[in-house]
Amino acid sequence: MRIGVFCSGGDAPGMNACTRAVVRSAVSKGHEVIGICRGYEGLLNEEFFAAEDGERLMRLRSVSNIVKLGGTVLGTSRSEEFRTEAGQKKAAAILEKHRIDALVCIGGDGSFHGAVALANHWKGQIVGCPGTIDNDLLGTDFTIGFATSVDTAVDALDKLRDTADSHERMFLVEVMGRHSGYIALYTALAGGAEVVAVPESHTDVPAIAKHLQALKARGKKSIMVVVAEGDELGGAVNLDKAIKAAGCPFDTRVVLLGHLQRGGSPVPADRILATRLGDFAVEAICRGANGVMAGEIANKLALTPFEETYTEHKAVPGDFLRLLQTMAS
Ligand code: F6P
Repeated sequence: MRIGVFCSGGDAPGMNACTRAVVRSAVSKGHEVIGICRGYEGLLNEEFFAAEDGERLMRLRSVSNIVKLGGTVLGTSRSEEFRTEAGQKKAAAILEKHRIDALVCIGGDGSFHGAVALANHWKGQIVGCPGTIDNDLLGTDFTIGFATSVDTAVDALDKLRDTADSHERMFLVEVMGRHSGYIALYTALAGGAEVVAVPESHTDVPAIAKHLQALKARGKKSIMVVVAEGDELGGAVNLDKAIKAAGCPFDTRVVLLGHLQRGGSPVPADRILATRLGDFAVEAICRGANGVMAGEIANKLALTPFEETYTEHKAVPGDFLRLLQTMAS
């Protein structure tokens, strides 16, 4: 078979480890691998990985030492053209022209929506690997990149706590996760934050102000508030203003971690997940799978239809909020 592999949407640490796993697994089974650069946009422009000697097929050595690299060596994109039916038909024709039988798409919900749309125009197999820091896909306990982004955010929180303590301040730290509070909750719990604001629960500003006043009265010197960018008030800047208006007993500063969370060398948990899922995706293709995402649920590998990975909201663990409150006392 000739298998195409590409990364799509927001990059995530571990995408390279996953690409490596796809290449090594497929090549060692005797298949050919074509690396598609810059996601669906690159496919539309026929941008393929080429080795230094001009060789277009990815070889075992093409992915040497990328397991530890952040970003994606294949590049990624969010393609406007591919959102159109004309773009999807064009992509299908390009895949046929290059005799590609199957695709491994490493990306998030937007990329999987794209895969479903492409399947209306192309007969080949498509299997996904969940590559997004957001951990917002059903069909896998964790997505590739989530653990590293939390690691980065917790490191930032630890550092901010030092300066917050010295100045007796409160920091509102905004983390990514467009529609999901996963990164915020994990960061808050691991970083010992006092407050977290996530899209999955109502952000009760007067209650937060009251809680902060109680913490101040109990001798708390510094406060960390972790805010998911998708929180109902629209992020940390707005929440800061609202808490101040409701009576904040601390001097505050706002830090937006932004794309910092998307970079850096993947932590071992992401490398291992990416390796398992990349290999599993290739195996699934060999067994005829199509239109599914390779995931890991309770340590077992599982395939889930693309539509089921993004149609419903992936609930955040309910006990985290309660635990956070108890720990923040
Ligand atoms: O989906 C991954 C993600 O990092 C989200 O957490 C974030 O909202 C978004 O991508 C940012 O996208 P962009 O890279 O286009 O600014």
